[in-house]
Formats: sequence, structure tokens, C-alpha cells
Amino acid sequence: MLILNKTAGVFSKPSKRNMYEFLRSFNFHSGKLFLHKLVLGIETSCDDTAAAVVDETGNVLGEAIHSQTEVHLKTGGIIPPVAQQLHRENIQRIVQEALSASKVSPSELSAIATTIKPGLALSLGVGLSFSLQLVDQLKKPFIPIHHMEAHALTIRLTNKVEFPFLVLLISGGHCLLALVRGVSDFLLLGKSLDIAPGDMLDKVARRLSLIKHPECSTMSGGKAIEHLAKQGNKLHFDFKPPMQRARNCDFSFSGLHHVIDKMIMQKEKEEGVEKGQILSSAADIAAAVQHTIACHIAKRTHRAILFCKQRDLLCQSNAVLVVSGGVASNLYIRKALEIVTDATQCTLLCPPPRLCTDNGIMIA
Ligand code: KG4
Ligand code: ZN
Repeated sequence: MLILNKTAGVFSKPSKRNMYEFLRSFNFHSGKLFLHKLVLGIETSCDDTAAAVVDETGNVLGEAIHSQTEVHLKTGGIIPPVAQQLHRENIQRIVQEALSASKVSPSELSAIATTIKPGLALSLGVGLSFSLQLVDQLKKPFIPIHHMEAHALTIRLTNKVEFPFLVLLISGGHCLLALVRGVSDFLLLGKSLDIAPGDMLDKVARRLSLIKHPECSTMSGGKAIEHLAKQGNKLHFDFKPPMQRARNCDFSFSGLHHVIDKMIMQKEKEEGVEKGQILSSAADIAAAVQHTIACHIAKRTHRAILFCKQRDLLCQSNAVLVVSGGVASNLYIRKALEIVTDATQCTLLCPPPRLCTDNGIMIA
């Protein structure tokens, strides 16, 4: 709760008058009776302002999201004060849209759930101060949510998955392997020792100036790499997967990033291309990068599955691996993970793409 108090104190709250007008804008008199408890979930931990209303059986009654990707693509990465400002500009509208779509008035809510960690402090602060003010006005319980736990449990909205199961979270800000033993019972098996895979893909895409590529200009870095990789030959470059000898389930992407950076510089010299121009070998580099990351992620996950099975931490015959996060939408990486789950008699489950990335539903 310390982080909650700290963060709440630092950031300006919406004014009382604004909040009153916000609440007054709901004049539902539907006369309907909700049989289940209703939770409003609010997410602002990074670059998505998201909200959703979900009932206790997992029905999604309404949701809304505002993505800041386009702005951050132009500035070449997330600038925290910019993200904070965009959250401030959008949070009221997004919460209002989620409530309107669900046809639930604020007074009908049973609780308000909000991401309190981990994430960018400036971004988290906006969702938190908005929620605390709403909680105060409505006299509703507040449920602080751990962003990673929400990601890990989202699969239970769409699939009947029993505990324990293994989860792999791979995105722009996350990289971890954990055994999920219960709703708030996690055993961390491995994590990135430096940056997350999506962060690395974003950096490589920026270094390759893929935003200038006509087919990739609106895509996130990871998506642009996946798109371009289809046109390239991964065998033209030989990047080694990191940590091949490490006897644990951790990840690392910084060293590989450094090697790729050096290779790009060398290719620029060879091709006589200025930094900021697109290399003719960009698609081959994209294919090799994607392949190396897929190998690394698959190998570390394989170790985690074997470790859990050896120690009877996972079901021997019907173990489940859940993969989520923005990078999990990469079909090449999924295919690599499928090879691992097929070889270990596990079932691979991925939430649908809209639930893989940050959203309000998982928080609610
Ligand atoms: O989960 P997410 O929306 O946000 C967080 O980072 O929490 O993930 C965004 C990340 C970005 O780094 C983006 O480049 C990556 O996911 N990403 C992908 C793909 N689509 C998005 N990476 C690889 N392949 C994709 N198709
Ligand atoms: Zn996330």
C-alpha cells in the first residue's frame, strides 16, 4: 500500500467539480437488476489508457481503450511526461465510454480496481488519482491490482484453465516466466536480466528506420519486424541466442541488441547507406533477429517446463503454458513455443490479441 499512498500524493487529482460533472453525466434509469457484482477496471501503467466493466462471472459488459502508440512512434519511444499528459487527457472519456457501453451507472458498481504497479510512475499516478477520487465520491471499495498478476490470470476469462499452470509474459515492458499456483500465488521462475523482448524489437526497428518503410510506418517495432521478416532470409545473418549455458530460466536481450546494432553499422558501411536510411538487407536482419529471439524464448521456456515437471510442480500429462503480452501476438515466436509444448506434451494457450496487450478487462 506504500506505493499507493506515495503515488497518490504526488500527482494532481481531477478537480471535485470535474468529477461531479463526470458522475452527473450518467443518468441511467434502466431499472435493471444486476445479479452479479460489477467491477470497473482502470489501467494506465504504460501507454494505454483503458477501462472495462466486468461482472464476477467474467462477462465483459463494456470496455474502452485509447492507445498512445502513434504518438510514441513519432517521438521514437515513450517519454513519460508525454504519456502522463495523454493519460490525463483521455482517462475521463475512456472510463465514461466503458461505463456507457456496459449500461452500468457508477452507483451500480461493486468496486473499482486499478493497476498500482509495476509500470511508469507518472502513468500509474494518473489512473490511481482518478480512481481514488471516484472511490471517494462513490464510497466504493478500491482493489489495487498488480499488472503482471492481471496479465497472468487473463486466460481464465476465455479458457477453463486449472491451477497450477505456467505463464510466459513477453511484451515491451515485461519478460517473465512464472508458475501460477493460485489467484495470488505465483512462483517466479525466470525474468529478463535487462530489457524486455518488445523493447529490443522496438529499438532494432527504430535503428533500421522501419517507420520510413511504406509497409511498416504505422506498426509497432515488433509488428514491423514480424512483417518484414516474412520477406527476408534468416540464414543471411548468424546471431547467437543469449545465455545458452546459463542453468536457469532467465532471459537477456541487451547483449544481442548490441551485436545487432554493430551488424547494422557494418552493413551501412558496406552498402554505403547513411544512418536513418533503409538498408537493402533490412528484411534479412529482421528475419534473423526474430528467429534468434524466438529461439532464446523457446529454450528458456523449455527449461522451465522440464524443471516444473521434474519437481511435480506441473501436471505430468496435461500441463498448460499460457503466453501473453504484445510479443505473444508474433506468430513465428508462437510457432517456436508450439514446438516446445508439443515435445513436452503441454497445451499452449494464448489469450486473443486484444487481451494479450494491456487492457482494462484484465484489471477488472
Ligand atoms: O503488451 P504491450 O501492448 O505493452 C507492454 O509493453 O506492456 O506490448 C507492446 C510490445 C511492443 O514492444 C511491440 O513492439 C511488441 O509488443 N509487439 C510485437 C508484435 N506486436 C507488438 N512484437 C513482436 N511481434 C509482434 N507481432
Ligand atoms: Zn502489460
